[in-house]
Amino acid sequence: MKTIRIGVLSTARIGRTKVIPGMQKARNCTVEAICSRDESAARRTAEALNIPKAYGSYEALLADPGIDAVYNPLPNHLHVEWTLKAMARNKHVLCEKPLGLNDGEVNRLINAMAVHPEVKVMEAFMYRFHPQWVETKRLIDRGAIGRPTSIQSFFSYFNADPGNIRNKADMGGGGLMDIGCYQVSLSRLLFDAQPRRVLGWMDRDPEFGTDRTFSGLLDFGGRLSAFTCSTQLAPYQRVNVLGEKGRIEIIIPFNAPPDAPTEILLQQDRETHTITFDPCDQYTLQAEAFARAVLEDTSVPISIMDTFANQHTVDALFKSAEADRWENC
Ligand SMILES: NC(=O)c1ccc[n+]([C@@H]2O[C@H](COP(=O)([O-])OP(=O)(O)OC[C@H]3O[C@@H](n4cnc5c(N)ncnc54)[C@H](OP(=O)(O)O)[C@@H]3O)[C@@H](O)[C@H]2O)c1
Repeated sequence: MKTIRIGVLSTARIGRTKVIPGMQKARNCTVEAICSRDESAARRTAEALNIPKAYGSYEALLADPGIDAVYNPLPNHLHVEWTLKAMARNKHVLCEKPLGLNDGEVNRLINAMAVHPEVKVMEAFMYRFHPQWVETKRLIDRGAIGRPTSIQSFFSYFNADPGNIRNKADMGGGGLMDIGCYQVSLSRLLFDAQPRRVLGWMDRDPEFGTDRTFSGLLDFGGRLSAFTCSTQLAPYQRVNVLGEKGRIEIIIPFNAPPDAPTEILLQQDRETHTITFDPCDQYTLQAEAFARAVLEDTSVPISIMDTFANQHTVDALFKSAEADRWENC
């Protein structure tokens, strides 16, 4: 089978712990190089993770003709800048979420894609590749719970480290950008629509200036998604989708472990069944889907317009919370 050669921009924790090990299990890509602002960190990480090449700058990795695509897990404020630099070198890009700081930034990528139509760019919403989400979407689309009209979701953790990128407002930190973007994404996926208007509420950390808790209502016209996310609450994640005939509950919606089964609950009338999924690595599935689009020159499964619509919704939620009123999307 053909493979693509991936280079990793930085020694980010998510790359080291989840995404690179996931990619290394994929059948159609290899992790060929890693880089860092600190060359010794790049070397150490390359050695620990068995990556053939290490570079002491991001530019050096992008200049390597032996790299077909880059994985970009930089802090949020550097996503678009380095994705554009990679595109200018004709490298495909798998970029961490949220891809832009706002929809205007995503628009810059849309314009660049018109100049480099051969280059694939995909936002790394890995959850969508897990079979528990594929099955949830399939069940809803075939009417297993009737018309879905209500989504409720939580996603929280506690992290008050002032050095963490999530607690730096100028780097695109805060709860909505870090994890609320998943809740916006899954609502748009399951309702297969863009919300008409949104209402946001936030509590900012007085020291960091980031939204440490954000709650939102997404009005899809007769269907509603309500969510809360937080960087400073007890760790928890859960998604519930209700229709007039049933309910689906996803127990570990976002951080599904690669080495243990996962479960969703399907309630139909008064009976609740558990659907169990074998262990699988959602980061491997994401890498394979991205590499397949590159190798077969097909559309990436998460399109740039989907990314734009998601970011536009996030932007509207921030505007609503600031203005203390509904905001049209
Ligand atoms: N999909 C998921 O499951 C998931 C999970 C967690 C995070 N993420 C996303 O992944 C990205 C990285 O998150 P992370 O927690 O892995 O971050 P992190 O450990 O802080 O890594 C970010 C890396 O960016 C590089 N960097 C360049 N300029 C920097 C600057 N001014 N300040 C800090 N770091 C800088 C550093 O690498 P060098 O020193 O090597 O250059 C650093 O290691 C974020 O966009 C986040 O939203 C996704």
